[in-house]
Amino acid sequence: MNTVIKRINSVTGIDSVVYLVSDTKYVSANFLSGSELKHIEKQKEKFKRDLVFFNKINKWIFIQFIKDEKDESKRLDALRKSGSEIVRRLNNNKIKKIVVRDVEGKSAELLALLEGMVLSNYQFLKYKKKDIDQETNSLQQVNVLSSVLEDPELDYLNTMVEATCKCRDIVNEPVSYLTAEKLASEFKTISGEAGIKCEVFNKKKIESLKMGGILAVNRGSIDPPTFTVMEWNPENKVNKKPFVFVGKGVVYDTGGMNLKIHDYMNDMKCDMAGAAAAGTAIYAIAKAKLPVHVISLIPATDNRVGGNAIVPGDVIEMASGNTVEVINTDAEGRLILADALDYAKKFDPQLVIDLATLTGSAQRAIGQSGLVGMQVKAERMFRELIKSSFQVYERIAEFPMWDEYSEEIKSNIADIKNIGGSNAGAITAAKFLEFFTDYPFIHLDIAGPAFLSKKETYRGEGGTGVGVRLLFNFIRKYAEKNNSTN
Ligand code: BES
Ligand code: MN
Ligand code: MN
Repeated sequence: MNTVIKRINSVTGIDSVVYLVSDTKYVSANFLSGSELKHIEKQKEKFKRDLVFFNKINKWIFIQFIKDEKDESKRLDALRKSGSEIVRRLNNNKIKKIVVRDVEGKSAELLALLEGMVLSNYQFLKYKKKDIDQETNSLQQVNVLSSVLEDPELDYLNTMVEATCKCRDIVNEPVSYLTAEKLASEFKTISGEAGIKCEVFNKKKIESLKMGGILAVNRGSIDPPTFTVMEWNPENKVNKKPFVFVGKGVVYDTGGMNLKIHDYMNDMKCDMAGAAAAGTAIYAIAKAKLPVHVISLIPATDNRVGGNAIVPGDVIEMASGNTVEVINTDAEGRLILADALDYAKKFDPQLVIDLATLTGSAQRAIGQSGLVGMQVKAERMFRELIKSSFQVYERIAEFPMWDEYSEEIKSNIADIKNIGGSNAGAITAAKFLEFFTDYPFIHLDIAGPAFLSKKETYRGEGGTGVGVRLLFNFIRKYAEKNNSTN
């Protein structure tokens, strides 16, 4: 469920309102009384509060101050977080409707506040049967009153939020519902809504393509694997060669025969967060009709123990024709991604970006605050992606891809093995993926930020939808830059 922001032209006396301002001098006596103004000034000047609020008889008034922060990325994210705080208070007080009023014409700040608000109002209630009314957030309507906000900007925001919430829904689904086939059918459905061409390969087709990585991981499972190809190829595209997104779709990761121990398995329904992001990002791009040719490739299966499951020591043959020695069945993501990365070659892509909850190593290295990113032959576009990552605050930390790391994944009996030593696990995983590429390539390890076990401001609890706003922003910026020259 997501909240759609609507534009309005006037406020009524009973509306709860958030006023967005940078300074107390903009808080006007037009809409507030003298004692209210004094209260606000005191809270702001004396107690250094950026959010001041009070309750009138039938409504709430919030004054949201824009931080005096030069770093735009930090300034905007503070507003997203405030949006979350405002929504928490509105829901606690059973408020149904809020108007956000931009006093000074600050469009970027306004968008950030709204984004934080609607992303925070997300809930996953599909499996709640009891007390559903009490569980459901009261806030249903977020309206905006602004003279500077342009309609396309508001549409982009609504589209991005909708896709992010869709992504969260898919990630939050347990495998008891979301098998590989269900995941693929979700993509079929959203493709239909957005005018995306979508084809789902079944097990037979995957066998005929000799996608040995996907088939190997699937061997312990009773559910068949899928491989989904989504394509947005608009007539007015500004790129000659497509962007390809690849998403890791392990709908559940038990670890396979190298079974996960302790509580390491607990959140492993989220191991398809990369797939969900790749599928819903292209959905947003198509819905917004961005003039860019984009393809999403999504290999999917669960990783289970079973009578015929792969075991350490097995050698498998991949779609590329190369052989892989499987040392650890819990390093399964790279096996299914390798087949998709090989498949991507046939599109002659200008850039391939994969998103994957790939390694605990990435999570341990930088925690949940950002994505670990690496690039091969994509230096310039990686800089652009990092810029986008700070704008949407899904920040990328770059790791090196030095040649020496490849030594770690040399096998004695096959072309390559599926794990390296105990150090630099996120990098050796990326090196494994690089082996199957021949084009400009960016790998994003989202193991840290994909899923939060406790609620954190506008990222919420459970699936965060990380990657969707990032890819949307990146492709949008690309379209804007290239529109005039083509
Ligand atoms: N899906 C996991 C990685 C993961 C860990 C995602 C934590 C989200 C949160 C991946 O398939 C995995 O099991 N990786 C192993 C690789 C190891 C066997 C080389 C890991 O990181 O421990
Ligand atoms: Mn694993
Ligand atoms: Mn996994």
